[in-house]
Amino acid sequence: MSERNSGKPKERDVISIVDLSADLEGLFKRAKELKALRRKHAPHRSFEGRALAMIFEKPSTRTRSSFELAMTDLGGHAVYLSPKDMQLGRGETVADTARVLSRYYDAIMYRAFRHEDMLELAKWADIPVINGLDDIEHPCQAVADLFTLWERWGGKFTSHQLTYIGDGNNVLNSLMLGAATVGLNFVAATPPAYKPKPWVMKRAESLALAKGSIVRVVTSPEEAAKGADALYTDVWVSMGDEAEEKQRMAAFKGYQINAALLARANPGAFAMHDLPAHRGLEITDEVMDGTAEAIWDQAENRLHAQKAILELVLS
Ligand code: CP
Ligand code: NVA
Repeated sequence: MSERNSGKPKERDVISIVDLSADLEGLFKRAKELKALRRKHAPHRSFEGRALAMIFEKPSTRTRSSFELAMTDLGGHAVYLSPKDMQLGRGETVADTARVLSRYYDAIMYRAFRHEDMLELAKWADIPVINGLDDIEHPCQAVADLFTLWERWGGKFTSHQLTYIGDGNNVLNSLMLGAATVGLNFVAATPPAYKPKPWVMKRAESLALAKGSIVRVVTSPEEAAKGADALYTDVWVSMGDEAEEKQRMAAFKGYQINAALLARANPGAFAMHDLPAHRGLEITDEVMDGTAEAIWDQAENRLHAQKAILELVLS
């Protein structure tokens, strides 16, 4: 067993957005530079010979494309791995998979059903593990989302409010923790049975307290929209929650970003969504096709923000 392969999480793992709390400002600045380079088609190939393993237990459009393209642009290589084609799907353990992949690659991006498996992979890998979404967090999404707001608000978070409407899920958790870290006021409206877990709330509240910002969860979308500079939503039924679809459809009725809700927010407020969107459920066509330019920026910014994350963890 190598010295680092000792069953302890490593400093450069990105399992939670909080793992990046000291780095967020630097990541936004670097993502901006990387975005400018890519737009000019200027080479930025600092990763010659580096390789990223990408394990996807769930489908993906954005995360897969942006990580794979990020590695290619940086001069490295990414390999897509699906458990159904791996020995992992036939009973090879997560720990053994981690040890083997550590001998080939420089980092692993993992999209997992279970947070426990994410921690197990990070525990046994010698190389950095990046959470590409699990049932608790979606940290890379939150970095891209906060970068999108940082760009739009000229690097200033403290005088703004981000409001989230919908499920107290992985996307909300990372966004709320990230907002609290940068001192952005964060208000969420969730149905009573779908609030974020108390330990996530506590963590976010203590981070916000240190920054003098607020974190608040209410049940009324109209109340949450008041004072918002951006309204964010995510799907009502996340990957892995399909068995609860019927009850979720009933519980989330009304937790929708539509023109009436946007009208309750501050003048100039815009909609955000991590995508994929279920038009007509959590967000209307009218909003998606109207005041939602930020949504497409969020998707593009996954590429630039993740390059900055990869540079950080592989430096
Ligand atoms: N937002 C996001 O992670 O999208 P994908 O599921 O397409 O990767
Ligand atoms: N909350 C959603 C996000 C998809 C990117 C899910 O976990 O399916």
